[in-house]
Amino acid sequence: MFHSVRLEFNRGIMWTLVLVLLMGIVEMNISQHYTPFQWLSHLRGRRQNAGWQSEVVDCPLECDCPTAYPTAMYCHSRNLQHVPYVPSHIKYVYLQRNQITGIQDGVFDNATNLLWVILSHNQLSSDKISDSIFVKLESLDRLYLDHNELNRVPRNMPRSITDLRLSYNKITKISSKSFEGMSNLTTLQLQANVIEEVEGGFKELKSLNMLDMTKNKLRRIPNSLPERLQQLYLEYNNIESVPAGFLTMYPDLQFVRLAHNTLTDKGLPSSVFNTSTLVELDLSFNNLEKIPLVNRNLENLYLHANKIKEFSLSSFCDTVDGTNFSKLKVLRLDANKISARDIPAEAAYCLRLVSFIDV
Ligand SMILES: *[C@@H]1O[C@H](CO)[C@@H](O)[C@H](O)[C@H]1NC(C)=O
Ligand SMILES: *[C@@H]1O[C@H](CO)[C@@H](O)[C@H](O)[C@H]1NC(C)=O
Ligand SMILES: *[C@@H]1O[C@H](CO)[C@@H](O)[C@H](O)[C@H]1NC(C)=O
Ligand SMILES: *[C@@H]1O[C@H](CO)[C@@H](O)[C@H](O)[C@H]1NC(C)=O
Repeated sequence: MFHSVRLEFNRGIMWTLVLVLLMGIVEMNISQHYTPFQWLSHLRGRRQNAGWQSEVVDCPLECDCPTAYPTAMYCHSRNLQHVPYVPSHIKYVYLQRNQITGIQDGVFDNATNLLWVILSHNQLSSDKISDSIFVKLESLDRLYLDHNELNRVPRNMPRSITDLRLSYNKITKISSKSFEGMSNLTTLQLQANVIEEVEGGFKELKSLNMLDMTKNKLRRIPNSLPERLQQLYLEYNNIESVPAGFLTMYPDLQFVRLAHNTLTDKGLPSSVFNTSTLVELDLSFNNLEKIPLVNRNLENLYLHANKIKEFSLSSFCDTVDGTNFSKLKVLRLDANKISARDIPAEAAYCLRLVSFIDV
């Protein structure tokens, strides 16, 4: 009895901590009541109040290390041009929204306990980051390098990372060595780069379940994706086709987004989307003239802004009877070449969970 109460209590503390840590990333909504400067002085004030303790805290002058969260170092949004030295007891370092262009060698060498390094929204360039900069961070869990000027994937990233953000950079290619050995990576964000070429770099990512390559220059779907992938986001590329059997190769895929590409009917093999695991399929803003055949288990289908001319009920149900019907809940067909009159009355039996078809 006492045991479980204590467990709940610990869990409460844990969630509070996670919340505080996350607030460091989202720029602290609390601060909207203060000007940025006031928020800074608020933090400093707290440290002074801590009296003799503040002298014990090893913290770079540029940053704040609140005594309440002794393993966090807050250095975001203060015009820094370099990474301050990170003391060895720090686990979470927030450096986002500065003007950092490079990372000097050795700056993380003593901080081998680091779990999160947040460097989003800076001006980091690849040639100002040495190949061994992250090597010693053997416990690193999150590395955020999004919104920088990187033109390649940093080398020798710790294999312990689970969440890697490289979106909004200038990366042109993924090589077979880009993510070598990163078998614990679960989330990989690469959106808004200029990636044209993927040379097998994803295969080793055994734990990856989310890959976001929205807004790149891909002309086809990368051909060796992680086996256990669940979410694949490829909107805003130049993809013309989906290879035959594509979804059977990745049996865990549940969410596939291919909106804003150049897909045509010819590029979609006849049963390519007929797999029972798929939950959401977004094919909006392409050049399709027909509704592709989808599995009865699909729940969300987005086909708006294509050139679809006819409503084919057989795309959803081959036979319609009392027990067999589509699980589709959301169907968007607006901005095509059909109107509500083109939808046959029988559709109501097959698409009985769809409350409203956008046409
Ligand atoms: C790193 O840690 C060692 C050993 O604790 C210490 O002697 C050294 O001064 C630290 N490095 C820096 C740059 O503070
Ligand atoms: C991957 O995660 C497992 C379980 O959390 C851990 O035991 C292992 O050391 C991690 N691998 C690396 C390379 O950090
Ligand atoms: C679609 O897949 C189901 C199995 O999930 C199968 O029974 C059905 O025949 C397939 N439809 C077509 C047209 O291939
Ligand atoms: C429903 O469809 C499945 C496979 O598509 C089939 O095995 C089953 O017999 C059908 N049920 C009825 C009542 O027609």
